[in-house]
Amino acid sequence: MGKVFDAAEVAKHNSTESCWVIIHGKVYDVTDFVTDHPGGAKVILRLAGKDATDEFDPVHPEGTLEENLKPEACLGDVDLSTIPKSEPEPAPQSNVEEIPVQSLLNMDEFEKVATAKISKKAWAYYYSAADNLITKRFNTEVFRSILLRPRVFIDCTECNISTKLLDNQVSMPIYVSPAAMARLGHPSGEAGIAEACRSFGAMQIISNSASMTPEQIVTGASPEQSFGWQLYVQEERSRSEKMIARINKLSAIKFLVLTLDTPVMGKREDDLRGGNVINEITEIKSPEVSQNADERAVFQGLDPTLNWKETLKWIAKHTKLPVVLKGIQTHEDAYIASLHTPQVKGIILSNHGGRSLDTSPPAVHTLLEMRKYCPEVFDKIEVLVDGGIRRGTDVVKALCLGARGVGIGRPALWGLSAGGVDGVKRTLQILADETRTCMRLLGVEKVDQLGMQHINTRLIDQQIYDGPSGLESIRAEFRSRL
Ligand code: FNR
Ligand code: LAC
Repeated sequence: MGKVFDAAEVAKHNSTESCWVIIHGKVYDVTDFVTDHPGGAKVILRLAGKDATDEFDPVHPEGTLEENLKPEACLGDVDLSTIPKSEPEPAPQSNVEEIPVQSLLNMDEFEKVATAKISKKAWAYYYSAADNLITKRFNTEVFRSILLRPRVFIDCTECNISTKLLDNQVSMPIYVSPAAMARLGHPSGEAGIAEACRSFGAMQIISNSASMTPEQIVTGASPEQSFGWQLYVQEERSRSEKMIARINKLSAIKFLVLTLDTPVMGKREDDLRGGNVINEITEIKSPEVSQNADERAVFQGLDPTLNWKETLKWIAKHTKLPVVLKGIQTHEDAYIASLHTPQVKGIILSNHGGRSLDTSPPAVHTLLEMRKYCPEVFDKIEVLVDGGIRRGTDVVKALCLGARGVGIGRPALWGLSAGGVDGVKRTLQILADETRTCMRLLGVEKVDQLGMQHINTRLIDQQIYDGPSGLESIRAEFRSRL
């Protein structure tokens, strides 16, 4: 039997000289780790001498303590009866009534209910986007300026939205995009999202910064269920190599997603204000060093030196899984990606939900740009898109433009926050139903029948990039390299 501490004794160790914290009833001496904490020293010192479980849990997957602390850092147990009770953080609008998710009809209603339910910190993290949120809003608006062209007098009672994404059979062309820290919104976390996806035959991409381990998330996967795993390459490459080795052992994970649109983090002001850092704002030096601690932790240690020349070769040494490149925003990069088949099997046109570079283009623009400059890319690699999808009509329009599938980021998180597993199920149900309704009203029975003939994009055609294609020099460069 190890030592049992009184909470008052732990409380004395509350400085950089001696810093102890309580997590899940255990006392840890983290003095040596304070300066190494990816989220910064401040966030640990704020909890020094206290029970840090509630802060630690929603953002750290199981195994984090073991990976980062020496075994002797665990000093013993705490006598739980001696821990003073703390008040939970009030939700932004307390006294909200329990609203059954079955009564919610669309994504906006989900966002509203989730906002009222979750902590300010969780809301700020999920809602935030870069600078003025122009790209975040435009992602949704752009779909609304595409008009549909319904064909009538066609029997489409047998409408079927099942399809294949990256060779995996799925029951809908809608998948869940990788998003960090799902347990901030609901304790069932990423595993809860997986459960909802399972009941609908939908695909899920797991974030490198998920709040649960990939093993926990895929536990209980059905034989038909497919996942991708998203990689943020760490500067300390061996860390990423170890993670990839774990992913290689999980048969439910069918591909690796390499996110490229965030070599550094965008400036997210809602998060800076709401993410538990109100006191730290006064000390802001530059956006890159002033993000909220949890978020900074997610980005700390990322390798900003990734490039076409080396990174894919490094990945090939560690996995046979096909790679999907996420964050492509121009036809040039889509084209270069298509030169890397068969290792690169797909691309995700994405601006990270507007969280990276404000005024970067929505996926719809990149789809139109690709159709104009390099339409052959659609035949060489699979093109997926995300950002701003909130309606079945958005899903259908993306498919008409050539996407094989569409990802939802925030809608899955709002669904989870509003109602746990049932909330995500309801979210998927609504989007799938709306997609089917839209297809029927267009006179279409199967997703592969959707095409440019079903949409009118004239309003946005004038906004599409019109400069030189740049493809000649790319061909010359890559011909000699590949
Ligand atoms: C994200 N996104 C993201 N992408 C990624 O590759 N790895 C990650 O860990 C995360 N984390 C993350 C957290 C949160 C809170 C959000 C909102 C987004 C981006 C995500 O995969 C996707 O590109 C966007 O969310 C799509 O836009 P919508 O659907 O949120 O409008
Ligand atoms: C984000 C990350 C983790 O957008 O990709 O917050």
